[in-house]
Amino acid sequence: MKRYGDIRGDGGSNIVGQVEAQQARLASRLDAVRFVVAVVSGKGGVGKSALTANLAAALARDGWRVGALDADLNGPSLAKMLGVRGAKLGVGADGIEPPVASCGVRVMSMDLLLPSDDAPLAWQAPTAAESQTWRGSMEANALREFLTDTRWGELDALLLDLPPGTDRLAVIAALLPRLDGALAVTIASDVAQLVVRRSLTAARDARAPLLGLVENMAGLFPGADVAQMAEAAGVPFLGRIPFDADLAGAADAGTPFVITAPERPAARALTDLASSVRQSLETARR
Ligand SMILES: Nc1ncnc2c1ncn2[C@@H]1O[C@H](COP(=O)(O)OP(=O)(O)OP(=O)(O)O)[C@@H](O)[C@H]1O
Ligand SMILES: [Mg+2]
Repeated sequence: MKRYGDIRGDGGSNIVGQVEAQQARLASRLDAVRFVVAVVSGKGGVGKSALTANLAAALARDGWRVGALDADLNGPSLAKMLGVRGAKLGVGADGIEPPVASCGVRVMSMDLLLPSDDAPLAWQAPTAAESQTWRGSMEANALREFLTDTRWGELDALLLDLPPGTDRLAVIAALLPRLDGALAVTIASDVAQLVVRRSLTAARDARAPLLGLVENMAGLFPGADVAQMAEAAGVPFLGRIPFDADLAGAADAGTPFVITAPERPAARALTDLASSVRQSLETARR
C-alpha cells in the first residue's frame, strides 16, 4: 500500500511532481497568449456559449489571433456553434492541434473528443456525498490537461466558455497562471442584481478584473434594468444583445451571427462588445 510519503517529494515521477510539471507546461503554453478571458454567468442558458463564439469571431475578424476553449465538460456546445464539430484532431508530440473554424478561431472542446451525441462525460464518485468535491477536482484536472495539451500557438486572446455558476470562476482561476479578465453574462430575469453582486465577489476571489456585465436576450424578458444595477454596483455595463431568433439559428448552423448577418442589431451589439472588451484589455495592460 502507498503511504502519503510515497506520493510526494521524490521528483518528477510522483503525483505532486506531475502536477507541478504540468503547471509549468501550462505556464509556458500561456506565455504565448496575450489575454486570457473567462465568460461566466449566474445560471445556465443565458447565452455564454453563443456570446463566446460571436465575440471570438468578431475579434478574429478584426485581426486578432483568437482561441476559444469550451470549459463546460458536461454540456459542450462551442464546437458546434463555431462549426468545427466532427473535425479530425491532429495529435503530435507537443499536443493536440485545435481545429480552426472558418471565422479563423482555434477551437478546443470536449465535444471534439466525444464519440457521439449521446455520450456525455460522466464523473462517477463512490458516494453521492463525495461526488460534488470529487467531480470538482476531476473536472479541474481534466481542464488543466485539456488547456495544457492544446497547441494554441501565439494568440491575442484565449476565451474560456465556463459552465454556469459564478463560483466556477475561482475554480478555473486556480488552475491558471493568470486570468486577465472575466466577462459576466446575464438576462434581465436572472435575478440580475444577485448576479452582479456574485460576479463581483467571484472576480475578487479569482483575482481577475471584472471587465463588465452584458445583458443578453434583451427585449425578451421584462424586468430588471441591468444597466442601472451594474452602474449602482460599480461594474462596467458593456451593453445589451437583443434577442434574435436568427442568432440562435446561426449558432445551430455553426456560423457566428456577427459573420453571417453583421448588420443586424444583435450582431452590431456583439461587434461593439468585442471592441469594448479589446479596449478594456489593452488599457489594463498599459
Ligand atoms: N441574443 C440571443 N438571441 C437569440 N438566441 C440566443 C441569444 N443568445 C443565445 N441564444 C440561444 O439561446 C440558447 C442558449 O444559449 P447558450 O447555449 O449560448 O447559453 P449558455 O449560457 O452557454 O448555456 P449553458 O449554461 O447551458 O452552457 C442557444 O440556443 C443560443 O443560440
Ligand atoms: Mg454554454
